[in-house]
Amino acid sequence: MALSESPITTITLIISFLLLTLHHAESTQPPYSCDSSSNSPYPFCNTKLPISKRAQDLVSRLTLDEKLAQLINTAPAIPRLGIPSYQWWSEALHGVADVGFGIRFNGSIKSATSFPQVILTAASFDQNLWYQISKAIGTEARGVYNAGQATGMTFWAPNINIFRDPRWGRGQETAGEDPLMNAKYGVAYVRGLQGDSFEGGKLGERLQASACCKHFTAYDLDHWKGIDRFVFDAHVSLQDLADTYQPPFHSCIEQGRASGIMCAYNRVNGVPNCADFNLLTNIARKQWKFDGYITSDCEAVAIIHDEQGYAKTAEDAIADVFRAGMDVECGNYISKHAKSAVLQKKLAISQIDRALQNLFSIRMRLGLFDGNPRKLQYGTIGPNEVCSKEHLLLALEAAREGIVLLKNSNSLLPLPKTKPSVAIIGPNANASSLVVLGNYHGRPCKLVTLLQGFGGYAKDTTYHPGCDDGPQCESARIEEAVEVAKKVDYVVMVMGLDQSQERESHDREYLGLPGNQEELITSVAKASKRPVVLVILCGGPVDITSAKFDDRVGGILWAGYPGELGGLALAQVIFGDHNPGGRLPITWYPKDFIRVPMTDMRMRANPAQGYPGRTYRFYTGPKVYEFGYGLSYTNYSYKFLSLSHNTLHINHSSTHLMAENSETIRYKLVSELGQETCQTMSVSVTLGVTNHGNMPGKHPVLLFLKQGKVRNGNPVKQLVGFQSVKLNAGETAQVGFELSPCEHLSTANEAGSMVIEDGSYLLLVGDQEYPLKITV
Ligand SMILES: *[C@@H]1O[C@H](CO)[C@@H](O)[C@H](O)[C@H]1NC(C)=O
Ligand SMILES: *[C@@H]1O[C@H](CO)[C@@H](O)[C@H](O)[C@H]1NC(C)=O
Ligand SMILES: *[C@@H]1O[C@H](CO)[C@@H](O)[C@H](O)[C@H]1NC(C)=O
Ligand SMILES: *[C@@H]1O[C@H](CO)[C@@H](O)[C@H](O)[C@H]1NC(C)=O
Repeated sequence: MALSESPITTITLIISFLLLTLHHAESTQPPYSCDSSSNSPYPFCNTKLPISKRAQDLVSRLTLDEKLAQLINTAPAIPRLGIPSYQWWSEALHGVADVGFGIRFNGSIKSATSFPQVILTAASFDQNLWYQISKAIGTEARGVYNAGQATGMTFWAPNINIFRDPRWGRGQETAGEDPLMNAKYGVAYVRGLQGDSFEGGKLGERLQASACCKHFTAYDLDHWKGIDRFVFDAHVSLQDLADTYQPPFHSCIEQGRASGIMCAYNRVNGVPNCADFNLLTNIARKQWKFDGYITSDCEAVAIIHDEQGYAKTAEDAIADVFRAGMDVECGNYISKHAKSAVLQKKLAISQIDRALQNLFSIRMRLGLFDGNPRKLQYGTIGPNEVCSKEHLLLALEAAREGIVLLKNSNSLLPLPKTKPSVAIIGPNANASSLVVLGNYHGRPCKLVTLLQGFGGYAKDTTYHPGCDDGPQCESARIEEAVEVAKKVDYVVMVMGLDQSQERESHDREYLGLPGNQEELITSVAKASKRPVVLVILCGGPVDITSAKFDDRVGGILWAGYPGELGGLALAQVIFGDHNPGGRLPITWYPKDFIRVPMTDMRMRANPAQGYPGRTYRFYTGPKVYEFGYGLSYTNYSYKFLSLSHNTLHINHSSTHLMAENSETIRYKLVSELGQETCQTMSVSVTLGVTNHGNMPGKHPVLLFLKQGKVRNGNPVKQLVGFQSVKLNAGETAQVGFELSPCEHLSTANEAGSMVIEDGSYLLLVGDQEYPLKITV
């Protein structure tokens, strides 16, 4: 490529190349019910009737055996009623995937856009970007369906569990450790995938695809030191449940209007989630008005008897879950034992009918009982919308905007565009798809490795893996790597983790870089002409203190698992065609955090017991990097411009008192204020944000709230709003936040009620503070 070639041309060339190699589809007919040619007489086919009536009609026509057969993820056809089979299990965590059984890439469509792993996308703190991605995923899902390669449109994403412990193998799937972030991520994902508008608007009954908020609830341990998720009994306080574990689910259902929930394997305070009537029926359906279907995690019903011993017999386990409110099992335990549960009068027909009503309503909302779905709302989405240029550019944008700049001594980055010679060293540099995609990935349209991404920027790129055995790096090839490093202008080291270190069913036990990675970094950095650039790929945080303080490591970038165009995104950041703006969605803990048992669910610190607490909201110990940390090639400053109220006077409903030490604290109960009051009392905050550098940039603004005097049990600080702003060099913009006292200015008390406490507070953004007083 010529020196004068602009980076935009480079991107276009790469994308065009990708598109050239993609599929052209022609397809088989997707299966559907109520074929108009058969002139179906059934009321359940009558699109003029409400869906609840249609589902009721359908359920009333089924025999007991037909009913029981529908209660598992692989639901068989009912030929006498013209109903095809349906597969409830499909996955789309960060792109349409063939991990479940509902999607097959074996027809004319062979792949779908692989967006970055969620933890990296989260780091953009950009809700609109999150929404655009899931909308693209929903569109691609319909494209796959219309091509006849899907037997279901129910996707088991998003994963909105809190990334509570840095060792969690599935933390990579989440939007990080903050409940507000996970809540907003969940809402954006659900609305995008299901085909609704980002904000406001009437939420449609019709579904582009169905999203599922998982894993309900307090699920964030996979397999740690012999304790696995199947038997783990999470001891969770009402206080932690109220302000940490439950809020993402509450929002996902109430604001996102998710059409699915998955109950988790684990028990919470002794009760298996899928057998918890209070959780599934009282809280989700009654309090939060959930109107979709509830699936078990796969084999979660069997373990209630087989592994947890919670139910005495298989029939009891089945009776427990249906009584609790679960509607469909992932697995086939029900096929084996439901009939006897009915015969033993443990499982009532009314509960089976309720489950079927929920299940068929979803299939109807997906348009699968309205005649040929190709002639309906989403029927025109063609194969050309899968892996489209637009979606690939979105995947690139998501990777670029998530990447976090952790260190940049003496402005080593960006590297000059004068086509220097560069050595790329490290086990993750020429990584196979498995590494850059993260788990629950599909088949990428076309993957760009970092080596390929560098192609347009460097004169020569020399590559050396540094280790023989991937990121575990037990056999490092340090001397060879050092020789390579000596010969070039710049060295970029691509290190970190992969799925062998952190994955489903496998939590970490060590928080440092695996194997000999640290030694490899130190040796190469010492030998290179200039300080090196270190790129870390990982989902969970890694203690890189040694690199942080090593003068020979000039720049550090965290790139999560950046997806199929991650290599290009990294090259653009490293060579300054993109100004990094991502901020960490998780606290990076030091290695010795592992002294805390992963099984300890407490969020709040307990100094007397030497328990440091968890996440930026409660953790009191030293950190390698903080939640929200992230540099850029420019500097931003903030200023509080105005607040609608300096004092918020909440005079509605009764005031309660609680004693703490010698103090009496006055507070209101959010539940007593009522929604209307809550909505009318908001505080408007206006901030000025200025870009002081000479590069445009996109910058996430994070607004925190802190109590003037942090009382026992309250967060050290709490994220109450975030927004991403685009600023040209030298530009100032205003950013507005609306804070609702009930939602943003409340904390959970020990009884698990949300309360608003009287007292002085501080709003924080960057190094700026602004006082806010609340009187009750
Ligand atoms: C794709 O795989 C599904 C499930 O295994 C199978 O039923 C279908 O016939 C396959 N299609 C093609 C075109 O091979
Ligand atoms: C990168 O990996 C691919 C696939 O594993 C391999 O074909 C290629 O030779 C590697 N590139 C280098 C420079 O080693
Ligand atoms: C940003 O500000 C810091 C501290 O004030 C300063 O050291 C640094 O040089 C500035 N960087 C840029 C790119 O302006
Ligand atoms: C609360 O105070 C406002 C003014 O501060 C007043 O207008 C309103 O009537 C009061 N409401 C109640 C219920 O006392």
